[in-house]
Amino acid sequence: MNETLANLLQENRRFAPPAELAAQANVTAEAYEEADADRLAFWARQAERLHWHKPWDQVLDWSNPPFAKWFVGGQLNIAYNCLDRHVLAGNGDKVAIHWEGEPGDTRTITYADLHRDVCKAANALTELGVGAGDRVAIYMPMIPEAAVAMLACARVGATHSVVFGGFSADALSGRIQDADAKLVITADGGYRRGKPSALKPTVDEAVARCPSIEKVLVVRRTGEEVAWGDKDVWWHDVVDAASAEHEAQAFDAEHPLFILYTSGTTAKPKGILHTTGGYLTQTSYTHHAVFDLKPDTDVYWCTADIGWVTGHSYIVYGPLSNGATQIMYEGTPDTPHKGRLWEIVEKYGVTILYTAPTLIRTMMKWGDDIPAQFDLSSLRLLGSVGEPINPEAWIWYREQIGRGECPVVDTWWQTETGAIMISPLPGVTEAKPGSAMRPLPGISADVVDDTATSVPPGGGGYLVLREPWPSMLRTVWGDDQRFLDTYWSRFDGMYFAGDGAKRDEDGDLWLLGRVDDVMLVSGHNISTTEVESALVSHPKVAEAAVVGATDPTTGQAIVAFVILRGTADASEELVGDLRNHVAKTLGPIAKPRQIMLVPELPKTRSGKIMRRLLRDVAENRSLGDVTTLQDSSVMDLISAGLQKPA
Ligand code: WT7
Repeated sequence: MNETLANLLQENRRFAPPAELAAQANVTAEAYEEADADRLAFWARQAERLHWHKPWDQVLDWSNPPFAKWFVGGQLNIAYNCLDRHVLAGNGDKVAIHWEGEPGDTRTITYADLHRDVCKAANALTELGVGAGDRVAIYMPMIPEAAVAMLACARVGATHSVVFGGFSADALSGRIQDADAKLVITADGGYRRGKPSALKPTVDEAVARCPSIEKVLVVRRTGEEVAWGDKDVWWHDVVDAASAEHEAQAFDAEHPLFILYTSGTTAKPKGILHTTGGYLTQTSYTHHAVFDLKPDTDVYWCTADIGWVTGHSYIVYGPLSNGATQIMYEGTPDTPHKGRLWEIVEKYGVTILYTAPTLIRTMMKWGDDIPAQFDLSSLRLLGSVGEPINPEAWIWYREQIGRGECPVVDTWWQTETGAIMISPLPGVTEAKPGSAMRPLPGISADVVDDTATSVPPGGGGYLVLREPWPSMLRTVWGDDQRFLDTYWSRFDGMYFAGDGAKRDEDGDLWLLGRVDDVMLVSGHNISTTEVESALVSHPKVAEAAVVGATDPTTGQAIVAFVILRGTADASEELVGDLRNHVAKTLGPIAKPRQIMLVPELPKTRSGKIMRRLLRDVAENRSLGDVTTLQDSSVMDLISAGLQKPA
């Protein structure tokens, strides 16, 4: 893959860690050596950062691969680790969550508060008949009760399945049925784009098709009128009335903590199963290492929704296990104005920001003048996750948000990996814009070709993981065969991530997106990510999405959809410039056949571009399923724009 293009994407910029950060970094280069010397001993030391009710007998049982057991025989309680431990250490008064509602209402929640709320919720769950081994669906807006609900489930040993609050009744009922959940925790609604957005009607519709559901526990957030049925219980009735005394019971290290369904663009979503001890070990360690969290001085903010794995690992479990003070924001980034995120950074003195390329590119599109209106001087570290970040977006993030000083950590991982796998270490790594750099200590990632052979420096191929890792998925819920088929059958003895990657001359890794997104143009493999990055490196481009469209002469032809930056004007001349710019950057073979200037791109609710729909447009087909789109009117906008020649 990418033989011809392997060395064409020239990215020579390098950014060393700031000296001050490096001098006090939580993790130094020694960690790589320690982990290389003895990987299991390394992970055992990271597990010791947690409180275990009972120590483990064996770090890893890999006798029945790929079904891993980590910290065999050990017992712990996740909520105890995230809450009781900090309160007992005298940190009860420390702020755990600065919550900011979209309309501007706020709540300050200390570790003692969160501990009390979780204990009450745990007692309420017990009263509602939910206990260890049961499944609970959580369908919530971004309010503190979402985190409380997850932690309360973990506390009593119930397995949670969080379903993103933007998903339909179909999606919710399918996930409830697949997991055979007993309880749904939801809210009347939340605030989005300046108005209440109801959730309860969707739950009602879903629950009508789910006989396994015994009760629906409802938080009042918006105060809007809701229909009320036999199964419905108000959170403020049962949780508020419950006792605040609750002793956390220890669970086995392999006790199922949560199921999270991958978005599944084609087939039925897969319920990715994560368990307890290994998951918390790796989320906690990576949060400490990659974000260099100093719990006494940092104010951390991950902008993800709790409905995605990023919210699970880097809002709830990682940060709380480390005693972080963090921000949680309910709403959309442009409500009531496009500077809302920066206003929040200024207001709370956020020091560490973790967000997604889609948001960064949106901010680029909105213009540099918006962040410039706010004081962002508190920031010291920036993170990115979810997609490959184009070098220009990386640079923009560092320059416009990070004052040209903050290290940017591009973190590669997946719902399936549970925690960060490939990322710079901010006090160690000399970062390259657009590269996730190296596997973290204790992780063994590789790039292999079709024959499962490691590619040499300069080569490209498939990203694989060669050794089990603590926070790995344990199976697909209820479907071990699908777990084997999807992840472990492509290459013998290796986990197949489904992403293309390139290893540069220094051995650093460049993620190229899903392998399904690689185009074959006149016999050359070209990744959509590379062409997109070439387009975004043009000063007039904010965002680009590239697809391969069937072409009678070249097999596939490159078709690009481009959003211009705030000030640029569309013209045929500009389109010509852009085509030439790509040819100059990547080589003539990568020159797009066609470039369409569009106002928006179709994205899933987690911010990933739906290339499938763009392929439909590029090949003049009627559109496929648009129900998982964040905003289905986007496709109308794009089609309308295509009537006139670009
Ligand atoms: C897929 C996983 C990890 C939490 C959010 C997404 C892509 C993720 C990066 C990155 C390049 C990335 C991959 C991966 N991805 N992070 N830093 N660079 N690609 O979780 O929904 O399970 O998606 O997101 O394609 O396989 P997810």
